[in-house]
Amino acid sequence: MTETSVQVEDPNAPTMAVALKIWRYDAQTGEKELREYEVDAPEWACLLDVLDLIKDKVDGSLAYRKSCRMMICGSCGMRMDGRAVLACKERMKPIVDAGHVPVISAMGNLPIVKDLVVDMDPFWGKVRAVKPWLDPGYDEAEEKERIVSQQDMNVIHKEALCIMCGCCVSECNSMESDPDFLGPAALAKGFRFVGDPRERGQIERLNTLNQEHGIWDCTRCYFCNERCPKGVDPRDAIAKLGAESIKEGIDHDMGAKHAKWFVTSAKTTGWLRETELVPKTQGVVSAIKEAKFALKLLRHGKVPPPVPPHVAEDVHEARGLYELVREQGRDGALGIVQGERALARLDQEKGLEE
Ligand code: SF4
Ligand code: SF4
Ligand code: FES
Repeated sequence: MTETSVQVEDPNAPTMAVALKIWRYDAQTGEKELREYEVDAPEWACLLDVLDLIKDKVDGSLAYRKSCRMMICGSCGMRMDGRAVLACKERMKPIVDAGHVPVISAMGNLPIVKDLVVDMDPFWGKVRAVKPWLDPGYDEAEEKERIVSQQDMNVIHKEALCIMCGCCVSECNSMESDPDFLGPAALAKGFRFVGDPRERGQIERLNTLNQEHGIWDCTRCYFCNERCPKGVDPRDAIAKLGAESIKEGIDHDMGAKHAKWFVTSAKTTGWLRETELVPKTQGVVSAIKEAKFALKLLRHGKVPPPVPPHVAEDVHEARGLYELVREQGRDGALGIVQGERALARLDQEKGLEE
């Protein structure tokens, strides 16, 4: 909920007519209604400015959260046309120019309190579960200041940018089917401390994050990377936690076993041998139990050949890559390529081709 704001009114600023459809919701009565509003707003207005104008001039009962108005506090997360956004980041001019009337609704995966306000308690509960503070391994600070190099801190630079807005959680596929999944924000926070060179409780943290509802329950849909307004790339943080866990020998979860098998199969034959996945990671008994399901998949043409036809012609490339990563000591989190870097490289390559 918000206090009405004071609008900075410049009588000479060019204005535009902005229309929004907003899902109004009352948790007490369960009433839900899509209402359309139209206001005149300065051309520089963002979504949050327009909501302020609606609340000030049209309907004071509209509820939403805000504070900083500059993408720092993380209060104004909501959905625009079904995608999580920070209301103070979304400029309205291009949308108005396109003649579009966006639909605004509350974030997903969190209970709605009223209109665009969600209950953040489940979100904070998960953040608390990953122990969001540094454990430097001592109670009394040493007399001398401990300097950490910028290079060491760069490892967690992106995760440290998180403003706890919940936009990633709103879009999380896994959380939709398993509300107990720790989720992208809490797991990114987890890596922020696992990767901190001053932290001394890494193994304990990794063990916690490898439990049920932890890192291996992520479906890798990448929606959290796509929607995070601060470039934290939580899915990459989860990948780093997975790689770091395997490096430390914490591989009891089936997800870790699968990841390890794929590395072995790529290294030995150059193929991802999915048909061997169950017997190699869960054992023969499980494989027999899954046989009925496998036959069903087979009937629908969804099973790859049981035995790969041959060792891949270019298997030396996969083996070379494996050796390179090993020689460079890039196992663990250091071996994870950040999404944005991979995308930038693809863009670059595309540019060279053109
Ligand atoms: S990649 Fe994983 S954590 Fe991120 S939104 Fe998808 S399921 Fe959730
Ligand atoms: S990771 Fe990004 S989207 Fe998720 S809470 Fe942090 S800043 Fe928001
Ligand atoms: S109001 Fe603070 S992030 Fe939008």
